Amino acid sequence: MAYLALYRAWRPQGFSEVVGQEQTVTAIRNAVRTGRLAHAYLFSGPRGTGKTSVAKIISKAANCEDLRDGEPCNQCSSCQDINNGNFMDVIEIDAASNRGIDEIRDLREKVRILPAQGKCKVYIIDEVHMLTNEAFNALLKTLEEPPDSVIFILATTESNKIPATIRSRCQSYQFRLLTLPEITQRLQEVAAVNEMNIEESALQLMARRAQGGLRDALGTLDQVYSYKGPNITKQDVLEALGLVDDVFIAELMDKVFANDTTGLLSLLATAVGQGKEPEQLVRETVQYLRDLMFYITMGHTAELTVVTNDTLSLLEKQRNLVNTDKLLQALRLMTDSIQKLRFSESQRLTLEITFLELAALFAAPTVVVTEKTEKKRETVTQTQPAQNKAQSKAPDPLWAKILAGVKEVKVPTHALLSQGKLLGIKDDTAYIGYRKGYKFHKERMEEKANREILEGVLKELSGRTIEVQFIFLDDDQYNDIIVKKAIELFGPEIVEIKD
Ligand SMILES: Nc1ncnc2c1ncn2[C@@H]1O[C@H](COP(=O)(O)OP(=O)(O)OP(=O)(O)O)[C@@H](O)[C@H]1O
Ligand SMILES: [Mg+2]
Ligand SMILES: [Zn+2]
Repeated sequence: MAYLALYRAWRPQGFSEVVGQEQTVTAIRNAVRTGRLAHAYLFSGPRGTGKTSVAKIISKAANCEDLRDGEPCNQCSSCQDINNGNFMDVIEIDAASNRGIDEIRDLREKVRILPAQGKCKVYIIDEVHMLTNEAFNALLKTLEEPPDSVIFILATTESNKIPATIRSRCQSYQFRLLTLPEITQRLQEVAAVNEMNIEESALQLMARRAQGGLRDALGTLDQVYSYKGPNITKQDVLEALGLVDDVFIAELMDKVFANDTTGLLSLLATAVGQGKEPEQLVRETVQYLRDLMFYITMGHTAELTVVTNDTLSLLEKQRNLVNTDKLLQALRLMTDSIQKLRFSESQRLTLEITFLELAALFAAPTVVVTEKTEKKRETVTQTQPAQNKAQSKAPDPLWAKILAGVKEVKVPTHALLSQGKLLGIKDDTAYIGYRKGYKFHKERMEEKANREILEGVLKELSGRTIEVQFIFLDDDQYNDIIVKKAIELFGPEIVEIKD
């Protein structure tokens, strides 16, 4: 299938073709009209929002032989040469490629030479924040005494890295992210001209994924087109980009919010069975949770990145089931798990654990962590079943050592074990308690491979052979029960109750 390079074909050729950026475009076009272009411009803003495009239009406007109401004609030889990249007096420097030292040195020598071909030399310096200090200084000298008929256009995605001395010599314009309607409309235009037939939800999905950058949106359309041809459905977009359907994630989250672990595990099994990548699943979930959070705070005005109209009704239901505190914790848990997945030998297991932890997190009562509860959490008598990461910070130094030892051997085993607690060691048997919600963790730990890892670590630490027993604890008053059971088992003299 042909590749269209849409983002190139659709580079705006005149100010009126630029999407968004109205203030910038109006101001510059007026300057062209009145013959008052500045000597130096600084364009900052996110990728793919039109900085280089506008710089090119300025180059043309400054050299055009037939300006029309502030617009370059795109027909004279100057305009055409600039459009084809054959114009000697428009010099593009990519500061990212070698940090610009040679070019800027060169620039200082050549900048005073009169334009060879046109009326005005234009230097476009892209990613200008990457220049070395030396190059910045050289540039500054030139900006301090700008020669006639030279225009500098500096473009950057990180304006905070531009020295104030440079900034103060430039007219600054901030490019903004494009809105969803702006992107959608441009995609529709492109589709119409190229005789594509794009399903509404496919269009939405592509526009949202671009997150405000038009280049990305066009790049996505290109990719899907080269994969599927001119008739494009939502499913095509999902497949071409290796994405997971938001409907699937929404269902998965329904199970999470209902703490339906069986349903959850079976959905995950289906997804893995269909060849979905665990990391992608987690990434999509992160985006989904992000959308949910925005939806809770901003309602219908929220710009959603993955949720399409297909799942809006589910999102509407789910907004009442969670609060933003929990969502933040959940986002943290999920982003951590992306790291874990990278180093995991058993991705599937790590994936399952991640989602079970997510379900447990939403099932637990909201814990407001004050200094006091934080302290309590460190003791055996803690009152809250803390569900977040702080929990795995084991209170007991021996438990911490055991966990660390296990982690060194195998990260997924550590993830299973860290949801339990060491009740104590008696008669060369270590007792480890799990709450009922952690049946999965307990059962996996009981499997030979995981058990042996733990026993190996215990042996290393204690120098003798210690067996392991996993015990179920009731959900209610988890911690009291831990204490009680421990006392039952070991007698009060062994169980230390800290407070
Ligand atoms: N505001 C816009 N209006 C119309 N098209 C745009 C706009 N922004 C980006 N595009 C599309 O994306 C392509 C790349 O845009 P451009 O090179 O101007 O982005 P940029 O802001 O310079 O990005 P970068 O920071 O990555 O250099 C253009 O060729 C065009 O197809
Ligand atoms: Mg650019
Ligand atoms: Zn022209």
